[in-house]
Amino acid sequence: MRIDIITIFPEYFGPLRVSLIGKAAERGDIQFGVHDLRDWATDVHRSVDDSPYGGGPGMVMTPGPWGEALDSVLALIPTTNTTSSPTNTSSPTNTSSPVHTSSPAVTSGPAVGAGGGPARLVLPSPSGVPFTQERAAAYAGEPWLIFACGRYEGIDARVAADARTRMPVDEVSIGDYVLAGGEPAVLVMVEAIARLLPGVMGNARSAADDSFGGGAGPMAGLLEGPVYTRPPVWRGQEVPPVLLSGDHGAIARWRRDQALRVTAASRPDLAARLGPDLDKRDREVLFAAGFPVSGEDVAH
Ligand code: 6GU
Repeated sequence: MRIDIITIFPEYFGPLRVSLIGKAAERGDIQFGVHDLRDWATDVHRSVDDSPYGGGPGMVMTPGPWGEALDSVLALIPTTNTTSSPTNTSSPTNTSSPVHTSSPAVTSGPAVGAGGGPARLVLPSPSGVPFTQERAAAYAGEPWLIFACGRYEGIDARVAADARTRMPVDEVSIGDYVLAGGEPAVLVMVEAIARLLPGVMGNARSAADDSFGGGAGPMAGLLEGPVYTRPPVWRGQEVPPVLLSGDHGAIARWRRDQALRVTAASRPDLAARLGPDLDKRDREVLFAAGFPVSGEDVAH
């Protein structure tokens, strides 16, 4: 898959060279292009913001540089083994290439992604739809994602409207709090997406066992419970004996009990959504955890 990121802080994306994502980029499983929005500014100060029409605090990012940046990035054709600069036809004040924090493999041409498909534009914003595990999985199936990092009070709304005439555009939030800019949100989203790509995580099975990742599996809708490894006793604490029993049925049941308890305690909103497929033992565990269980009464 190809991922392009447009930002006024390209250096923010150095972490993409680290760990599993860095390895995936080295292998070419993900092709990153990180672009400095200011390369598409047209004045000597390379400005990208202005005061809001209608008044109010802060500054708004102007549409001009964003429109040109998106046009240029959409004109990139990813290839596998070259490192070159995207053609920047729109920046008379600046002939240098946009900064890349990884080795993007790009040249100019029609808007066709690494997987041969079209680009999807993701706009990080606290006003967006929630970024969930489900959305991460959907994005992991896309051939080409473009993230446009807003700063200040946001990007002039005409940028998204214009982009929507050419590609799908999602405004996406990573949680109910306000960040100063979209950059950390993009790092979060890229990490969640990248680890779902085939071959990026060492153990392909662990994605299916993740919190939220149960899908249709036995742990669907549950958070993960505690985990243990050697030594069997540490600072006087024993590993729960069932995990050493070799009884796979008992271990699976214990893990489900723990997952139900953690979910009830940390995320009552998720616990409340657990469906009618809860068995009798599930209901007993939730009830003992102080969670009101709808349907049949488990109290005797
Ligand atoms: Cl995606 N961006 C910003 N600036 N703030 C946020 C956010 C995104 N998600 C939650 N808060």
